[in-house]
Amino acid sequence: MNLTTSTDGNISGKVQCPGDKSISQRILILGAFMNQDMVIDGFLHGEDPLSTMNALNQIGAGIQIDEDDRVLLCKRNQSFHDSDNVINLGNSGTGLRLMLGLASGMGLKASFVGDESLSSRPMERVINPLAEMGANIVSSEGKLPISISSSTINMQYTYELPIASAQVKSCILLAGLSAGIGIEIIEPIQTRDHTERMLKNFGANIKITSLDGKNIIKLDSTNNLHAKNYTVVGDISSAAFLIVAALISNSPGLEIINVGMNPSRIGVLKALRKMGANIKLKNQRLVSGEPCADLTVKKSKLKGVELSGEIIPNIIDEIPIISIAAAFADGNTVIKDAAELRVKESDRLQAVSEGFSVLGIKHENFEDGMSIQGSPNTLLIDQSVSIESHDDHRIAMSFLIAGLKCSQSITVRNCENIFTSFPNFIELISSIGYELEKQ
Ligand code: S3P
Repeated sequence: MNLTTSTDGNISGKVQCPGDKSISQRILILGAFMNQDMVIDGFLHGEDPLSTMNALNQIGAGIQIDEDDRVLLCKRNQSFHDSDNVINLGNSGTGLRLMLGLASGMGLKASFVGDESLSSRPMERVINPLAEMGANIVSSEGKLPISISSSTINMQYTYELPIASAQVKSCILLAGLSAGIGIEIIEPIQTRDHTERMLKNFGANIKITSLDGKNIIKLDSTNNLHAKNYTVVGDISSAAFLIVAALISNSPGLEIINVGMNPSRIGVLKALRKMGANIKLKNQRLVSGEPCADLTVKKSKLKGVELSGEIIPNIIDEIPIISIAAAFADGNTVIKDAAELRVKESDRLQAVSEGFSVLGIKHENFEDGMSIQGSPNTLLIDQSVSIESHDDHRIAMSFLIAGLKCSQSITVRNCENIFTSFPNFIELISSIGYELEKQ
């Protein structure tokens, strides 16, 4: 599916933010592990969480969706079982890495595959600590396909994260939880803490302290978890596309309802505000242990900034759309310390650079980032252009939003991947004044 932008878009109105992808995946895994009755509201019915749901059902979770799109977890008579068939996690890095933790901890026998993008992504980051814990894992040189056979995880495990990764942290916590061993994780740079919050929300014995600027996360070997119904807050990473759309178009105001405001995820607001964005929060509240608010965003004069260091893991998924904001800001933006972007659903630094080259946006590439020479004016291009999404949802949506500030239409190629994280993107963006044509 290719999508073509229109040149007269103007963003305004009020929309509901789609459910958080990271939280939707975690609540399925933890919910199924708890094996108690539970109803989940606000779940993201995107392809990634659905891949995780299928994976869990293949090991016996019995998760269902009711007619109101709520997810139902029911107490089962049996615990999880080995999977006879290969488990396909599609495009989902979170699904795969977290499932590897759960399955290893339970000592299940299972084989995992994924799509072309997932098959090219590095998995040693979870395989190595899991193997150290006692898991028996065979991979194809640190990548998919991966098979787990019965593990012997029975010792307290301490691990200092060598890369800032919430997926690695969560994988180890889930392995420890399901194996019933104590875990200590040393986290030098804060990454998203949804797993820790969720564990706390259900009564786990988890403590987080700070030592020499590092987080020390300790999960006890015994945890008496009590399920209760759960509501997934909206995904700030999806909201980011709408926020930038309102900032760069002639928007009188866009309201985005129910956006997750977890401190480990709101770097995008800090970065955009540093650029001059007019974003206001109201109705701040806590939903199932996660902060959340309604946002109002207005067209703003943006200026270039430097983004590097500790904020990077906090904005890692938003850097492509922040780069679009930077392209329409006054002055230079420099992004550094973001080499992780090279191993996401695509090499996102390369993909953004290619799109910028097509649009004639001046930029310079570094191994761990880029500098972008912005201009607040509408980008004058001679004729309609075509940009490759690299089968990456965030690249596709970023360049579709860029179309709001271009004199000619942009066709973004191969946009199906948008359905992994933002299944109603086309309808939602149309409801606030920006038409995308399917081809
Ligand atoms: C995620 C963590 C981040 C993020 C990904 C989702 C998660 O990845 O980029 O989209 O749900 O834990 P890393 O933990 O690999 O940085």
